[in-house]
Amino acid sequence: MKFEDFKIVATASQVPERVVDNHELSTMMDTSDEWIVKRTGIKRRHIAVTETTSSLCTSVAQQLLAQSELQPDDIDLIVVATMSPDYLTPSTSATVQGNIGATKAMAFDIDAACSGFVYGLKLIRQMLMADHKKNAILIGGETLSKLLDWSDRSTAVLFGDGAGGVLVTNETTADGSYLADSMTTLGSLGGYLTAGKTGQPSPFSSDHQPFKPFFKMNGRRVYQFAVKNVPDSINHALSVVKLAPTDVDHYVLHQANVRIVERIADELELPMTKFPVNIGEFGNTAAASEPILLDQLVKHNIIKRGDTIALSGFGGGLTVGTMLLTY
Ligand code: ACO
Repeated sequence: MKFEDFKIVATASQVPERVVDNHELSTMMDTSDEWIVKRTGIKRRHIAVTETTSSLCTSVAQQLLAQSELQPDDIDLIVVATMSPDYLTPSTSATVQGNIGATKAMAFDIDAACSGFVYGLKLIRQMLMADHKKNAILIGGETLSKLLDWSDRSTAVLFGDGAGGVLVTNETTADGSYLADSMTTLGSLGGYLTAGKTGQPSPFSSDHQPFKPFFKMNGRRVYQFAVKNVPDSINHALSVVKLAPTDVDHYVLHQANVRIVERIADELELPMTKFPVNIGEFGNTAAASEPILLDQLVKHNIIKRGDTIALSGFGGGLTVGTMLLTY
């Protein structure tokens, strides 16, 4: 496998049926459509009522296979990026592997919060290169609604559920190529965004309060982190292949807040036309947000074969990452 042999051959996405708009949330907590739209750009989000992270991811994997000429047994690797799996074990990817009958695929999950999809792209590229394997499925899938404290307006209005994914090959006959990446973790800032404390207190502890899994976020700190570190990450990846920000056709950024996307466009001195957004319809879907947006752009023929794209994620960890590709 050569340096550049890494191609996205199909994209897919799946969101839950139930849509909850800002007006409905205003009946549940002290908030308003005006506040949410002005501060975040979010109008509505999909919330899993009957769906699970693994059912959404299974649908994405089935769609990816249906779009390709591959059989389940042709898949060598399945990775799901998620911070909201159904179980810690079995992994969501193992459940997907079983559901689609990809009996030859190695399957495991990764958790890098909202950077999970770009971290996953880097990981599967390295694994395809190292193991001389051919076909991998990478899915970002989340049901963050189950980690939310629905009485906390500062976090409950921000997130949504969904899954998106890609089928990747290193076959030289397929279009597209890898260009560069830049991935960073700032673990000392991890306390700014926490969720999903697992397990129960030890019976040998004097504290018997059950753990609460809820999201806690210092929104302002995460905002400041994003508007500095995402442009740095993009610029670093561009410098590796000596490209300028204007050389990228589409910036597919993690959809956390439309104001963050606007600030990043400003920092890079680029027009917002290069920064498609869909946060209004989906909210922040963490690891699922970039592949859902990517799938919409491909399906609407906005991203075309040969276009240069930058995928950038940032979030819990704190983590940040960018991958540059020719689609
Ligand atoms: N409705 C109405 N008022 C609200 C709401 C709400 N839903 N939430 C907070 N407020 C109030 C606050 O109580 C505060 O009131 P006060 O001034 O009387 O104290 C006021 O609005 C301002 O609150 P701030 O938190 O200062 O609002 P801010 O402008 O910072 O916006 C936000 C908050 C949207 C969270 C912003 O900080 C942000 O987007 N941060 C980044 C989040 C992010 O990027 N997360 C990505 C990572 S997620 C992941 O990794 C899974």
